[in-house]
Amino acid sequence: MVVADESTPRPDSVLTRDARARRRLLLGAVAAPLAACSPAGRTVGAPVTLVFKHAKLFGDPGPLRALLDAFERRNPGIRVRDETLPSSSDAQHQFYAINLQAHSPAFDVFAADVIWVAGFARAGWLRDLSELLPDHERAALFAGPMRAVTHRRRPYAFPWYVDAGLLYFRSDLLARHGHAPPRTWSGLVRAAQAVCAREPGLRGFIWQGRQYEGLVCNALEYLWSNGGQVFDDGRVVLDSEANRTALSFMVDLVHRYRVSPGSVTTATEEPSRHLFGQGRALFMRNWPYAWTTFADPASRVHGAVGISVLPHFPGGMSTAALGGWQLAVNAYSRAPDAAMRLVAWLGSVPAQKSLALAYGFQPSRVALYDDADLLAAQPALATLREVFANARPRPVMPRYVRVSQVLQTEFSAALSRVRPVALALASAQRGIERIVADAH
Ligand code: GLC
Repeated sequence: MVVADESTPRPDSVLTRDARARRRLLLGAVAAPLAACSPAGRTVGAPVTLVFKHAKLFGDPGPLRALLDAFERRNPGIRVRDETLPSSSDAQHQFYAINLQAHSPAFDVFAADVIWVAGFARAGWLRDLSELLPDHERAALFAGPMRAVTHRRRPYAFPWYVDAGLLYFRSDLLARHGHAPPRTWSGLVRAAQAVCAREPGLRGFIWQGRQYEGLVCNALEYLWSNGGQVFDDGRVVLDSEANRTALSFMVDLVHRYRVSPGSVTTATEEPSRHLFGQGRALFMRNWPYAWTTFADPASRVHGAVGISVLPHFPGGMSTAALGGWQLAVNAYSRAPDAAMRLVAWLGSVPAQKSLALAYGFQPSRVALYDDADLLAAQPALATLREVFANARPRPVMPRYVRVSQVLQTEFSAALSRVRPVALALASAQRGIERIVADAH
């Protein structure tokens, strides 16, 4: 006899008739094109107001509101109030962890960082979204985010948009001084030193080194592009020669080669984007959203920016950290069916397309990378499909946030030279080993 347990996937055939009908209803919202939104939708019972929480948007909130209005027209009886949180992933995590732990129903749908889903799902804080993600839907989405939202073989969030670390460069300045976009980290240092020597006031390379989640993404990209890693088959392998070389290089960017200003050690994404957007840096590491802001004709660097994969160490491979945000339904929501309908709508093809055009939120749906309108609006982003397909997730594990806190502390101590690189990595190794041991 086969006993279904929590980890057994639920094939179509064992869904109840009720569940099948509900799924048809939910997916109906996905399939309908935006233009077909009419006030003639079906209601889902008593009127409800859903609260949708997400990070502050960079840009006009109008396009997102238009999508929510379209949803309301299609679903009479459901209203959506969207509420924003600060953009830092860490601050948002704190908000959700406190509220979900208290079983708060104060929000129904929320945007979750790719790294939280395993922990939140394990805590029982997220609704199982299997009904929204049958096999053909899963196959239409990038594999990395899909893996990250899957806990015990069930999806607990809907991949919404994808992030991966990219190298931005000033194509005009590189051309003026006869340099090609660098493929290796040492090539980047050479180009930055040469160009900055002739362009007074220009910063060479800016990135995100403040003690927060973004630093972990930045640092792992160096470690991975030197063949290093944090875990190997469940073992902690942080204290390695490859990692020491990679982290030392990051410190050297500031203190030895002096191509990165000291301010990178306290910078997050937005200050980096502003500095680069003002034309004051040659290279920048950032996520894809920055591109949309530079593509604006009003931008000071409009037409003078290129993007490429990140550089790597000799013998290593360019490796972007996989980031991105997922739509999750609060397990304590008082309107879970309406909440699922909103997730289906916001994750649909037309919604992902308008969010990509408006905010540079790169779709989790692979097919949209062939969309003519998107390609016309963001030609440089055509290369992103490959970057996303190969981007590497941070360790997918329920205790990731604790692991990250250790990494943040130690990487930051190394960058500010409070602790030598070798000691920082050895200490992080021990700290993470303790977290893993606690889990058993
Ligand atoms: C971006 C990424 C997210 C990451 C964060 C770090 O928002 O999408 O995954 O954790 O940056 O700052």
